[in-house]
Amino acid sequence: MAYYHRLGNIPPKRHTQFRQPDGSLYKEELVSSKGFSGIYSNLYHIHNPNNVVSIGDPTPFSWEPAKEYGLKQTHLKTAGVGTTGKDYLGARKMLMMNNDCMMGICSPEERKMDYFFKNADGDELIYVHDGEGVLYSQFGKLEVRQGDYIVIPRTTIYRFEWKEEGPLRLLVIESHGPIETVKRYRNEVGQLLEHSPYCERDIRPPAELHTESEKGEFLVKIKKGGMLHPYTYGHSPLDIVGWDGYLYPYALSIHDFEPITGRIHQPPPVHQTFQAWGFVICSFVPRLFDYHPLAIPAPYNHSNIDSDEVLYYAEGEFMSRKGIDRGSFTIHMGGLPHGPHPGTVEKSIGAKETEELAVMLDTFRPLFVTTEGLNFVDPAYPMSWKE
Ligand SMILES: [Fe+2]
Repeated sequence: MAYYHRLGNIPPKRHTQFRQPDGSLYKEELVSSKGFSGIYSNLYHIHNPNNVVSIGDPTPFSWEPAKEYGLKQTHLKTAGVGTTGKDYLGARKMLMMNNDCMMGICSPEERKMDYFFKNADGDELIYVHDGEGVLYSQFGKLEVRQGDYIVIPRTTIYRFEWKEEGPLRLLVIESHGPIETVKRYRNEVGQLLEHSPYCERDIRPPAELHTESEKGEFLVKIKKGGMLHPYTYGHSPLDIVGWDGYLYPYALSIHDFEPITGRIHQPPPVHQTFQAWGFVICSFVPRLFDYHPLAIPAPYNHSNIDSDEVLYYAEGEFMSRKGIDRGSFTIHMGGLPHGPHPGTVEKSIGAKETEELAVMLDTFRPLFVTTEGLNFVDPAYPMSWKE
């Protein structure tokens, strides 16, 4: 993360004696990235973080690319889908993937997790399409709501508690590389610049510590190598009395993303919100349209020669597309041009503003629909530009 944060009690000097009320030492844990060269945090545990009681058999937790699917402009219809599984991990359905990332949906029946999860394969970006709840992690309590992007660095041990009322629908992205703020919006010490569409005030780290000191048996499901490894610890993993550093989960609301607009159509990079290895995430938010007297607000046809583009339609009318619902994904593959549906360009002329809300993922390496994703394919979409 781009700025230093601390919660709870920590000793004045790192790697020094820090004692509990009974005189025993707190157990320090350095959580660091890129070896010792990236961002890190120091956490102080009541118990030993290696206090493993038992290890269960690993079970597969991975998806397969449907490589025979071929080159097609694709629409995945997930609007009518209700819950996608019983619990948080069981409900995770990844619909697209490559070696850099996976993207999918998650609408669990159970709102409270009775286990902890730790993703050791990648960072997670969870977009809350519908729902309101709390992310409990070693870094504290983070309240989240509709429209939030939640960035969870790999190996964060967490559990969600979602409100029982209303729908719960999450967009889930797993990234092989770290998910970061956009480099061109940062100055040489990491502060977000004046022209960044969001700044540090919009970034919400855990606001308060949540310490569970109790002993017992606590299950942590660890994802590593596409498998789930059930680890049982002899204490709650949320036994942290304090931490500080730059590495922690945080939320950023899509509603706090300030759009960049212009006289003529602005290119997608103005919508960029995050960067990662091999892909970017962009936010399309309510904004004024282009104001040149001859402006065409609808996007132009576009041939992306070296990236695949996914749009997840969250809210509003999408003027350049027909037949797209709330919860639809479109995948416009590199190698084919894509653009507005017939009639939508003329219709857009004179429009002053849009209320649309969408999340875009652009990959630099080919993205595949997974075998799971095939269940949602709209077969009519590739020919939907036919005049
Ligand atoms: Fe495009």
